[in-house]
Amino acid sequence: MAEQTPMPSTDATQNDRRTLLRTAAGLVLAWLTPIRAGAQSPGPTVAAGDLLVRVGDASLIPLTPDDVPFDGRALLVWPLSGDTARDNTPLNKIIVARLNPAGLSEATRARAVDDIVAYSAVCTHSGCDVDEAIGESQTLYCSCHGSTFDPRDSGLAIGGPAPRALPPLPLKLEGGRLVVAAPFLTTPGFGV
Ligand code: FES
Repeated sequence: MAEQTPMPSTDATQNDRRTLLRTAAGLVLAWLTPIRAGAQSPGPTVAAGDLLVRVGDASLIPLTPDDVPFDGRALLVWPLSGDTARDNTPLNKIIVARLNPAGLSEATRARAVDDIVAYSAVCTHSGCDVDEAIGESQTLYCSCHGSTFDPRDSGLAIGGPAPRALPPLPLKLEGGRLVVAAPFLTTPGFGV
């Protein structure tokens, strides 16, 4: 005679339901809470004279203009002080992009090197990193909730929920390398 599969007990079924509900609630919470830069981080410490190094580059090779792509991709970078990346706070994270010179505002052009501009990488809406794609639109996008910024015009917020511009970071060229010319012009972080 074939064995009958035992039915799960009511307790087990209720436990399964509770686990499922807890998992679903956790997923919703995670969706509502993007990776927030700065919620409990020390303030930004980017300083004039810092070099720039790619996020994830353990060899800490400072960026030159030639390292910044021509193909519509931006780079996420840290400031580099001596041989130490200032990566102790996400508020130091920077996005660097090469733009079409024809579209740059006068103020942005004055802060650029070889049509390369730099901004805080921290979305001003809720603290996610902005995406590394510039593309033909020559805009920066944050895919967490769809904010768009104009790096040709001082990082202005031009779409989505972001309440303010990305803080600009003036650059200069020294010894063939990209160097921070002055700290962020406004305070990195999110919210008003
Ligand atoms: S964190 Fe919400 S749009 Fe960037």
